[in-house]
Amino acid sequence: MTTVDVPPVALDVPSAVAQDAVLVLDFGSQYSQLIARRVREAHVYCELLPGTVSAEEIRRRKPRGLIFGGGPASVYAADAPRPDPAVYDLDLPILGICYGMQLLAHDLGGAVRPTERREYGLASLVVDEPGGIFDRLPDEVPVWMSHGDVIEAMPPGFRRIGHSLNSPIAAMAGPSGRLGIQFHPEVVHTPLGREILRNFLYEVCGCSGTWQPESFVDMAVRDIRNRVGAGRVLCALSGGVDSAVAATLVHRAVGDQLTCVFVDNGLLRRAEADRVIDIMSRQHHINMVHVDATDRFLEALAGVTDPEEKRRRIGRTFIEVFEQESRTLGDVDFLAQGTLYPDVIESTAKDTNHAHKIKTHHNVGGLPEDLRFSLVEPLRYLFKDEVRKVGLALGLPEDLVWRQPFPGPGLAIRIIGEVTRERLETLRAADWIVIDEIKRSGLYRQVWQSFAILTPISSVGVMGDGRTYANVVAIRIVQSEDGMTADWARIPYDVLGDISRRIVNEVAGVNRVVYDISSKPPSTIEWE
Ligand code: XMP
Repeated sequence: MTTVDVPPVALDVPSAVAQDAVLVLDFGSQYSQLIARRVREAHVYCELLPGTVSAEEIRRRKPRGLIFGGGPASVYAADAPRPDPAVYDLDLPILGICYGMQLLAHDLGGAVRPTERREYGLASLVVDEPGGIFDRLPDEVPVWMSHGDVIEAMPPGFRRIGHSLNSPIAAMAGPSGRLGIQFHPEVVHTPLGREILRNFLYEVCGCSGTWQPESFVDMAVRDIRNRVGAGRVLCALSGGVDSAVAATLVHRAVGDQLTCVFVDNGLLRRAEADRVIDIMSRQHHINMVHVDATDRFLEALAGVTDPEEKRRRIGRTFIEVFEQESRTLGDVDFLAQGTLYPDVIESTAKDTNHAHKIKTHHNVGGLPEDLRFSLVEPLRYLFKDEVRKVGLALGLPEDLVWRQPFPGPGLAIRIIGEVTRERLETLRAADWIVIDEIKRSGLYRQVWQSFAILTPISSVGVMGDGRTYANVVAIRIVQSEDGMTADWARIPYDVLGDISRRIVNEVAGVNRVVYDISSKPPSTIEWE
């Protein structure tokens, strides 16, 4: 079960935003974060808090309403996570989703029982009472179910507003805007789920929809100025959107008190390092230290083939170079990082599932424990799509803001086997063609990632009159919401054909291209 720690009250939230906040209480569902995202997409500020948070913490945030998320427990289990009973005295509208609905039923005097027929997957919800959360919806809607318990008796004062084949009470409504739904409105498999959430936010909670990521800029700038005062700030740029947006925000707040360090590890895509330097230094006039540490990284990687060992060495080398550079800058008080809300939730999650490490993720954030700086993390309450909007509002160019995610260890984990200068050049050339063709076909923003992998396989081919024996390049293009699960993208054959033809014709040493058609799970997105 996932639970999250109570973060401090987000920012110096202006009243316009605070008046419109809705909080999601997390009881361990994998979807809790998605609910928070959907609420923000509906222009209502939203934070995710542990399900067991005190009523007092909730009151401090002055929300307009609460959403109880789902969870794997049964409300009758001894260790089932429960809300503070005083939450019900706050007189706030509450939407209980799945386990959250069962909590409402149980805590307010109804009854829940296990069902012989667990419901998992698509179901049809019959709306018994239109209006409210079902306002402007048809009489019957497809919904996504995932539960083992059902409501046997509703609490006093509640009435049934929807049912499905296996859930006689699939939706219920009570006094003071208390509502329960057995299905998940936040997932894409409930196509009208966004409308249901919007109805809750606007019709039931009375929110006015003032949250815009762009309005976050002024708020964050004020907050950074207050924190940093006259101090000096250091920021490590990775080439990706998060650190660039964080740096630009800090720069807007404290100008030349910020110095950015860009460690070029020699594992970036073609032209990426120059583009970052050009944008940050020449266009935005941010103080910048550019370190070309390619030799050092390649030395550290010489002879290494194990993926985890590659990551460890890259992480360690990054820290060494970064520390060395930061020492030459004299006294620095703060370190700015582009940590996002999902990272905050992830890193505070006391989730035993996470104990089983699948891959070590070393980002530029992988800094030593004995940090001598305080952290400034201006994006720690934002989701990725919001960071992009903030980036555009700050005047960063679209090609940087919409850059696909790129792993910290870079091309090193896309070269299977040893990383050498020559193999890096081969992969860079192939990767350039993939991106070029995907952009040309208008698919770049529609997919999560599109890239090439240099496999350790050589295969026989024929070019002109001659036999070749050369590298096999694999192409990986996936669709994903958050990188946690992914599906291989159904790219038009013509686009794949163009990519393949160009790579074999233009990249020396490659005579075969294959397309990876595995989803995650059971595969991962990266090959290493
Ligand atoms: P996997 O391969 O685990 O990738 O399915 C999920 C997402 O994470 C990225 N990724 C990394 N990012 N350091 C990073 O900063 C890493 O070591 C790393 N490994 C994978 C990957 O590109 C995908 O978006």
